[in-house]
Amino acid sequence: MRLRGELQFPGDKSISHRVLIAGALAHGKSFFTNCATGLDVKSTAACLRQCGIELDLRCSVGTVTGGEFKNPLMALHCGNSGTTARLLTGLLAGQHIQAELTGDVSLSDRPMGRVLHPLRIMGADVHATNRKLPLKIRSAPLKGISYTLPVPSAQVKSAILLAGLGAEGQTVIFSPLPSRDHTEIMLKQSGVNIEIRQQKIILSPGTGELEPFKMDLPGDPSTASFFAAAAAVLPGSELFLKNILANPSRIGFFEILRKMNAGLEWLEIREDRGEKVGDLRVQSGTLQGVEIGEAEIPALIDELPILAVLATQAVGKTVVTGAGELRVKETDRIRAISENLKKIGGDIEELPDGFIISGPSQLHGGEIKTYGDHRIAMAFSVAALLSGGPVRLDDEACIDVSCPEFFQLIRKACN
Ligand code: S3P
Repeated sequence: MRLRGELQFPGDKSISHRVLIAGALAHGKSFFTNCATGLDVKSTAACLRQCGIELDLRCSVGTVTGGEFKNPLMALHCGNSGTTARLLTGLLAGQHIQAELTGDVSLSDRPMGRVLHPLRIMGADVHATNRKLPLKIRSAPLKGISYTLPVPSAQVKSAILLAGLGAEGQTVIFSPLPSRDHTEIMLKQSGVNIEIRQQKIILSPGTGELEPFKMDLPGDPSTASFFAAAAAVLPGSELFLKNILANPSRIGFFEILRKMNAGLEWLEIREDRGEKVGDLRVQSGTLQGVEIGEAEIPALIDELPILAVLATQAVGKTVVTGAGELRVKETDRIRAISENLKKIGGDIEELPDGFIISGPSQLHGGEIKTYGDHRIAMAFSVAALLSGGPVRLDDEACIDVSCPEFFQLIRKACN
């Protein structure tokens, strides 16, 4: 089997959440196309609607009309989406809203203390037993803070910035390690007084109202990575991945692919609303193992499950360290990767903050436990393409969290 042809991807999930939020804060109507169609973004849309925001989202096209936020009558269900829960906590605290946030079983077990802590320093009245959902927000006046991020998390950074929009005075965030910067880019594009430096962001809130916008969202590089990985391994493959978000904080996986010896070339880079976008050509190669450390992790954090699958096909050892954050994603991804790879013939050693994989291994069939995690399910769907026997997932539906189009795209690429 080989993958060939041209693929277009649904819009980037991180940017999709932020488009809805920025639109909700804007003075007027914003228009967007190629929004992500997965359940996570739908959760953000539904929560914003419950807060009185007029939002129309059909497939990937929609509009959002900014307006005054209202106290929701019922709890806001964030589904499986950590981005929804964390960004909305900051946003709603900044809009002085009273709300309760809940989530599914997986989200209810993820740490919220990382956003509660800085928001409380800002004066927010936010409570969650054991620092996990359900979480309650009550209206309180906020003041700006200077805060150093203890983890390189874009969700934490974004929660503080969104709260900062409704705070008195400047909010300054120091980030020792960079993380995805879509929130600050979008705020700047929307006319907010925000200064973005290498390790420091300074937000000076004005009226709190943003400018409305039009945006055609770039394809999600995290979704594209599954296809790039399969093309890198399967001999004779050549894929053109069109209109992919090429923001440097998101393309670490493609750089690693190149280091591993896959054919990889960005064909054209352009810019739209402050975000770099490009077309990417990926060709198969004889892959070599690589070492990836803490500094490289944030730019490929969501791609580590597929990188692990890829590493089983590379010659030599692939060593990933400094990725302890994987243990608090939709599931403990280090455990899920390790347990499942072993079942289908991978040679993996689990580390507290990563893994060591020795390759190449001939993968065989097996039963995969996804733990309802969309990226585990997609990574092992790619493993199925590379293996000599049937690989069965206990839950394919969880892929709808980020990319309901996944199998359709796989079928297109396999033709
Ligand atoms: C995201 C940030 C990352 C990433 C997640 C989406 C975002 O999480 O893993 O899938 O949209 O801000 P952290 O902020 O926890 O690193």
